Amino acid sequence: MTGTAAPDTGIPDVPKAELHVHLEGTARPALIRRLAARNGVALPAGLFADEETFAWTDFLDFLTTYDLAASVLRTAEDYRDLVHAYLSECAAEGAIYVEMIASPDHARAVGLPEAEHRAGLFAGIDDARTDHGIEGRILVTAIRNLGVEAAERTAREAAALAHPYVVGFNLAGDEAGFPPAPFARAFQVAHDAGLGCTVHAGEHAGPASIREALALPGVRRLSHGVRAVEDPALVARLAEERIVLEVCPTSNVVLGVYEDYAAHPFTRLRDAGVLVTLASDDPPFFGASIGGEYGVARTHFGLQDDALLDITRTALRAGFLDETTRRDLLERLGSAGSAL
Ligand code: ADE
Ligand code: ZN
Repeated sequence: MTGTAAPDTGIPDVPKAELHVHLEGTARPALIRRLAARNGVALPAGLFADEETFAWTDFLDFLTTYDLAASVLRTAEDYRDLVHAYLSECAAEGAIYVEMIASPDHARAVGLPEAEHRAGLFAGIDDARTDHGIEGRILVTAIRNLGVEAAERTAREAAALAHPYVVGFNLAGDEAGFPPAPFARAFQVAHDAGLGCTVHAGEHAGPASIREALALPGVRRLSHGVRAVEDPALVARLAEERIVLEVCPTSNVVLGVYEDYAAHPFTRLRDAGVLVTLASDDPPFFGASIGGEYGVARTHFGLQDDALLDITRTALRAGFLDETTRRDLLERLGSAGSAL
């Protein structure tokens, strides 16, 4: 023993799990540059503010920059490298399980067939498991601002191309401009195919968006859902029905949903008995990481290691993964292995 203390990274030393991260939004500027060069494509104008930073002003502008960054992803190998890079970062911060939200529409936009897109995603998951012991799964997402028909097509394709790594269906994009209800048929298709369903709601729109989201077939989790706090009856319902929130505190603060961590409703929701998990959303855009969010929960919300472990346990129980893998991961926490 040298007696040298481990450096304090601010990241709690507990196993972590993440249920909400947009895969194309995990690429750091350096990776975007490398892939653009490899593919011989020009970097889109307006993408970067500087070497390390994407350029965007507000949420809708962020979505535009996100699309520009994703446009340099062209091949199965790009998606393999993206998944591997992100899962490697997560493993280095102590994560054991990550659900990545992947968008077939972004692959389609650059002419990459869905079979190749998926081959890359799956290779990244396999290689990260081999290298780091971390598990990853995919949630296919529809983009609400592309419309109802595109969402239904995405759901039908996900249903037809069943694969054990593709475990869920989400709805992302412009939440305030495109409420959930018209997407019911897309969710019915996904739910009927056995995909777990979650939907962005209660972030850029209020409690009404959450009630609409909960009326969609199969929805048992909410991407964000934090603005439920504006409606006490809805908070009670979320607790009663054991709906799980994928909470992304740093994203919420950076996007201005809340002024700072002190104003964030994480503690109020958790104290009311709502099941909460932690996630990074779009890490390099928001200066977030899964380890960093656990650090935020400790520093700003007062959670000690046992409470942080409970968050991981909730995420593993609410994850859309198969029961065998769930049981194995829960055993790594010393917990019994049932779904919620
Ligand atoms: N697409 C990519 N990132 C998103 C986010 N944070 N919210 C909604 N849609 C997204
Ligand atoms: Zn999101």
